[in-house]
Order: sequence, then structure tokens, then C-alpha cells
Amino acid sequence: MSTVYLNGEYLPAEEAKISVLDRGFVFADGVYEVIPAYGSHLLRLEQHLQRLDDSLDGIRLANPFDHMQWAAILEEIVKLNSENNEDLSIYLQVTRGAAKRDHAFPDEIKQTVFVMATPMSAVPAEQLENGVAAITHDDIRWRYCHINSIALLPNTLMRQVAREAGAAEAILYRDDQVTEGAASNVFIVLNGRILTPRKDECLLPGITRDLILEIAADSGLDCQEADISMQMLREAEEIWVTSSTKEILPVTKLDGQAVGNGKPGPVWRDMLDRYQQYKDKLRTGAAQ
Ligand code: PDD
Repeated sequence: MSTVYLNGEYLPAEEAKISVLDRGFVFADGVYEVIPAYGSHLLRLEQHLQRLDDSLDGIRLANPFDHMQWAAILEEIVKLNSENNEDLSIYLQVTRGAAKRDHAFPDEIKQTVFVMATPMSAVPAEQLENGVAAITHDDIRWRYCHINSIALLPNTLMRQVAREAGAAEAILYRDDQVTEGAASNVFIVLNGRILTPRKDECLLPGITRDLILEIAADSGLDCQEADISMQMLREAEEIWVTSSTKEILPVTKLDGQAVGNGKPGPVWRDMLDRYQQYKDKLRTGAAQ
């Protein structure tokens, strides 16, 4: 049985209860983070906590904890859920707490803080061997997609459209420009160069995305932030989607058409190797 953290207590998931008046439940008034833990080491903790600060600033909600306090809670949750030595995905959520239903903020705010751990399932070998299918979808979300908001209804609707089309992800576009995936960032390889959309309010600044850019720069690979049009997406030799839980997934079919030769590409393979090396270092505490 998993142990979760809720408002100062560590308790079995089944015993954790929140008020039906919680503004997270009623208005989706809150933000979240998903942080992988490999061999009990949290990946890029400082960057995740910085993004949490940015998301909280974005919704004008004070962070109830400083980074040291967050680290203590997250490390305790990792420890309490590590009996099987599995890699974990740590989910944390902060909402504006329980209050009488009124759209404007309550005068007194007591944030609800929730943290849980789930075993991180390895990406299936079949997906690494053959890649996955993706569809394209008009980005129907609001204009503050850089905030890691718990209001994920548009993302869930678009991911479901993908699933019903037999695809693993929906790649989103706004005004003919690729933004990101329904729950991932997007990279393409075009004319041998690795490209990903620039950070702005149209996409979540993914921690995996930044790590890939860093690994590419350290390895001397040609990797740049750029505007990516739908035509560039369709002409790409390779497409990848990246996230904390899916790492780097090769997309080999887009809207039913083969991407490149329809197999995961060599640039992806090289990047995945480098990412695995990074994870191995993290497991031994030699990277953060
Ligand atoms: N989501 N863009 C969106 C819309 C996302 O939901 C995610 C990840 C990313 C990638 O961010 P990162 O590399 O920091 O995981 C980009 C998570 C994992 C989720 O909602 O489960």
C-alpha cells in the first residue's frame, strides 16, 4: 500500500481525504509537478522546485514551503515507498485549499499540499523498437500553458482523441506552429539538426526537454530552439516526444504517415544512450 503526504501527515493513500470544497476539486485551482526518482535519487529536483515556484507565482499562490522543506518531504515519500527498489514517479500538487465556493480568492488561504509516489513503469521494449504513432491536434488550451496547472481537461481530451486513433500522443499546433504534446515536449530532426520549440507561454518548459538540450550541448550535437511549422514537422526525419515519465519516445507514424523511414532514427538512439548514461550517473549520486 502506498504512503502519501497530505497537509503535514504521512499516511496510507486510502486514508488521505480532502474537503469537497477544496478549490482544486471545485475550480482546478492549483498546480503540480511530476518528478522521477531513479534509485531513490530525485531527477533535477532544484529545477522542478523552481518550476513549481514559477507555476505558483503564475496563479498568485504563495509556496507553503521553501526548497529545503520540499526536499525533506519528497525524500521521505521516496523512502517510504522504496521497499521494492523500483524507480518512482513522484506527483505533488498544491491547491488554494478549501473555502466557500466563490471564484475570487478567499481572504484566508490554507493551501492543500499532496504528494504521492507511483512505480515508474519502464517504456515497453516494443515502443523503443518500433516507435509510437502520434496524431496532430489543434491546441485547444488556454494561453498560460507554461504554468503547470492541474486544469488538464483539454490535455485529457486530446490524449483521448489520440488513443482512439491508435496513437500514443497528440502533437499540438497553434497558428501552424508546433507547441508541444498533450503531455510531453516535442523535438524534431530536420536536415540532421535537432530542433525544439522555444519556451514561451504556449508550452510547458519541460525538465526533460532542458536536460536533452544540455546533454546535446555537452556532446557537441547540433540542437537548437526554433519555431517549428507544421510543414517542418511533416518533413522531419525524426520526431521525439519527451517527458519525465516517458523519457524520449520516438514517433514513427504521424497522422498515419511514416516519419522518415518509419523506424526510430539514429539521432534518437544516440540521444537515448546519452540519457541512459545520465540516469546511471544519477542512480549512483554522481549527477543530479
Ligand atoms: N507532464 N508538456 C506537457 C503539457 C506536459 O504535461 C509534460 C509532462 C511535459 C514534459 O515536462 P517534463 O519533461 O518536465 O516531464 C510537457 C507530466 C509528466 C504529467 O503530466 O504526467
